[in-house]
Amino acid sequence: MVLKRPTIVLGADHAGVEIKEYIRGLLLEMDYVVEDVGAFGKESVDYPDYAERVGLAVRKKRDKKGILACGTGIGASIAANKIPGIRAALVVDENGAKLSREHNDANILVLGGRPFNKRKVKKILQVWLTSKFKGGRHKKRLEKIFGIEKRSARLK
Ligand code: RB5
Repeated sequence: MVLKRPTIVLGADHAGVEIKEYIRGLLLEMDYVVEDVGAFGKESVDYPDYAERVGLAVRKKRDKKGILACGTGIGASIAANKIPGIRAALVVDENGAKLSREHNDANILVLGGRPFNKRKVKKILQVWLTSKFKGGRHKKRLEKIFGIEKRSARLK
C-alpha cells in the first residue's frame, strides 16, 4: 500500500529563504507535494506575512503541514501561533522535533535560518515528518489550548 504523503506548505522571510530552499529540495526528494508561498529572494520582507500565509493554508486542511523559517525562527513562530488551530513549534534539535509531534501535535515546524547546519536540519526534518501524535493525556492538554483560543476570541 502506498501512503499518501501530506502536502507541506513552505514559507520564509528573507533571512529564512536559504534554509527554505534547502528544505524544499529535501521534501521533493522524499516525494512530498510542496506549496511554496515565498519569499523567493534576499530582499527584506516581513516574517508575519509569510507566517500568516502558511498558517492559513495549514489551518484549512487537516492533512496539511507547514514549515516556516526566519532568521531565528522566533518571529515566525510567534506570528503563526496567533492563528487559531495552529501549533507552530520552534525546533532546534531532534528531540524537540519528535516531542513537538508526539506531545503537541505541532502542525507547523519552525526553524531558524541564520545560521543553519544542513545535516542537523535534514535530521530534524526526517524526525518531524515521521513522528506521530500520541494522543492520551496529550489530547486533554490540546483541548485546554483550544479552550484558551475560544476564551481569547471573546477578549476585547
Ligand atoms: C529579520 O532580520 C529577522 O528579524 C527575522 O528573520 C527573525 O529572526 C525574527 O524573529
